[in-house]
Amino acid sequence: MNAFSRTSPDIRRRIIDAFNFRHATKIFDPERKVSEEDFNVILEAGRLSPTSFGHEPFRILMIQSPEKRELLREFSWGANGMMNGSAGQLGTASHFGIILAATGALMKAGSEHLQDHYRRVKHLPEEVIEIFNAAYAKFQAEDHKIVTDREIVDWSGKQAYIVLANMMTAAALMGIDSCPMEGFDMELTSRTLTEHFGVDADKWKPAVMFAFGYRARDPESPKTRRTMEETVSWF
Ligand SMILES: Cc1cc2nc3c(=O)[nH]c(=O)nc-3n(C[C@H](O)[C@H](O)[C@H](O)COP(=O)(O)O)c2cc1C
Repeated sequence: MNAFSRTSPDIRRRIIDAFNFRHATKIFDPERKVSEEDFNVILEAGRLSPTSFGHEPFRILMIQSPEKRELLREFSWGANGMMNGSAGQLGTASHFGIILAATGALMKAGSEHLQDHYRRVKHLPEEVIEIFNAAYAKFQAEDHKIVTDREIVDWSGKQAYIVLANMMTAAALMGIDSCPMEGFDMELTSRTLTEHFGVDADKWKPAVMFAFGYRARDPESPKTRRTMEETVSWF
């Protein structure tokens, strides 16, 4: 038997087509909404994403109310159409949200939150929890030196970006457009989330915003990327 897997050419083409289809959509067609069924698939792709140690250091905040979205506009230049004179992603996306990253209060080795996560979500027996606590403590203190609050929340943010990537790929496979956004003021966003969305800033910080919907028009310029040779080295 052939040692190589036999992926059908059709599947290969569909995957690459989806990646070429996806572009950072600046203006969505405000009349076209993503169906609940399709959006649930996008959320499920996020929820099922891998995370380091399986700690799931993220939450997804959906912001559908136009009034709530407007609270973000002033300091979210990457989402407000400032550069193209439109209502931007905030004003036109079918679905808009923010992925929150867990802070050190939740993600420091040995935290109460992690003990609960190991027991309730991962169903780990007590002796395995002990092993997890020790391994994760070493990972934080020695292997990756993720020690300060800033380092921990940045580590959580890395996981959040994987979640968003999976959501965008799932969307693209369904012909749904998206935009990832980090063009916003962290401090002001965090404060607004606390004041108007009930987010506990001691536990959760904004990592990245996202928008989903259907493009209002095709991108103005074709995709540009480095060549494969510039991107990948084989040894
Ligand atoms: C983490 C991240 C943050 C981004 N922030 C913004 C943003 O705030 N606003 C925006 O319009 N595009 C944003 N982009 C989109 C990029 O500019 C875009 O992906 C890149 O130029 C490549 O173009 P393409 O995605 O259309 O292929 C962001 C992309 C990533 C991955």
